[in-house]
Amino acid sequence: MDDRAELRRLTEVLTGPESSPGQWFAASAALYELFLRISGFNEKEEAFRRDVQMPSGKALGPVWAAFCLKDAIRTRIFLRGILKALEAARHRFPGTPIHVLYAGCGPFATLMLPLVPLLKENSAVFTLLDVWPENVQSVKRLIDAFQAESFVREIAVADAVRYRIDPNGRAHVLVMELLQAGLSKEPQVAALANLAPQLLPGGIVLPERIRVNAGLLHPGKDMRRMTDPDWAGQDVFRLLEPGFTLTADPDDWQSFLRGEERIIHLPANRDPAYNRLCLFTALQVYENECVETWESALTQPLLLKNLEEPPQATGIALRYECGVAPGFRFRLL
Ligand SMILES: C[S@@+](CC[C@H](N)C(=O)[O-])C[C@H]1O[C@@H](n2cnc3c(N)ncnc32)[C@H](O)[C@@H]1O
Repeated sequence: MDDRAELRRLTEVLTGPESSPGQWFAASAALYELFLRISGFNEKEEAFRRDVQMPSGKALGPVWAAFCLKDAIRTRIFLRGILKALEAARHRFPGTPIHVLYAGCGPFATLMLPLVPLLKENSAVFTLLDVWPENVQSVKRLIDAFQAESFVREIAVADAVRYRIDPNGRAHVLVMELLQAGLSKEPQVAALANLAPQLLPGGIVLPERIRVNAGLLHPGKDMRRMTDPDWAGQDVFRLLEPGFTLTADPDDWQSFLRGEERIIHLPANRDPAYNRLCLFTALQVYENECVETWESALTQPLLLKNLEEPPQATGIALRYECGVAPGFRFRLL
């Protein structure tokens, strides 16, 4: 089987409605090996393991950005969401190829290249950005090897937080995964604030919605969840309101930029077994394509504090901070 046929086969497994979770993981690992071999990307290079500190957060070293592909459920849901968003954009903007701005493409353009065998000629064209020149070079080699040039408008070394879109070629769709659990460390918020307003009116941003809530985790139930395959238990954690929601709506991302503080009360009659105060992240990539708690590295709960008995706090004040170390900050009330 030639490489392009293999790419199609693996994408169909990874995105297909019938395949099993085991098959998604095997397909994403095989895609990783395929891209590694064809791009010649050197995953042993020490310099590619170091993150780069940008004014708006960290840019992962290329080795770690490449590994994101193996976060199989995340990759599956993003690819399925992008396919659906392209379909929706075709209805919204008929008669023109859909221009997708893909910020933070990493060395494998993981959220674009696997889709190429499924796209019709002239249906979509991508602008790809990354701050690492090595990532851009690796993606150029892959585009050549898979003869995907007709789907590429531009590949550039650029900072997504400052990038200005050519006003004559504004994009219909923005795809970006510059994030970690709790929107910490990486510049998703700052990049969204820069790029979303530059899309064409009616443009689509993916992920559509990122929700972060404080919540209380039951460590005993969490242990059973991890160790007992027969346990169908639920109610392992309880989310607290109000949460934070990041979308392309300026009201949402501006409240992150302003660092607006929200007061979250702990329930007065709370079950003391729910004693881990955590941040919970969930992604709605597009419509019903969602990545829920524990399904990805991006949606692992982040521990804020072990709560003591008798309770030392009635609640927390939570706010987001942009800058070199983006993330949520909290204080006990
Ligand atoms: C989490 S990785 C995701 C890689 C790939 N898109 C995927 O989903 O598998 C984020 C990528 O964004 C790039 N990046 C981080 N900050 C950036 C910025 N300010 N502008 C452009 N690219 C950035 C990193 O270099 C890295 O390649």
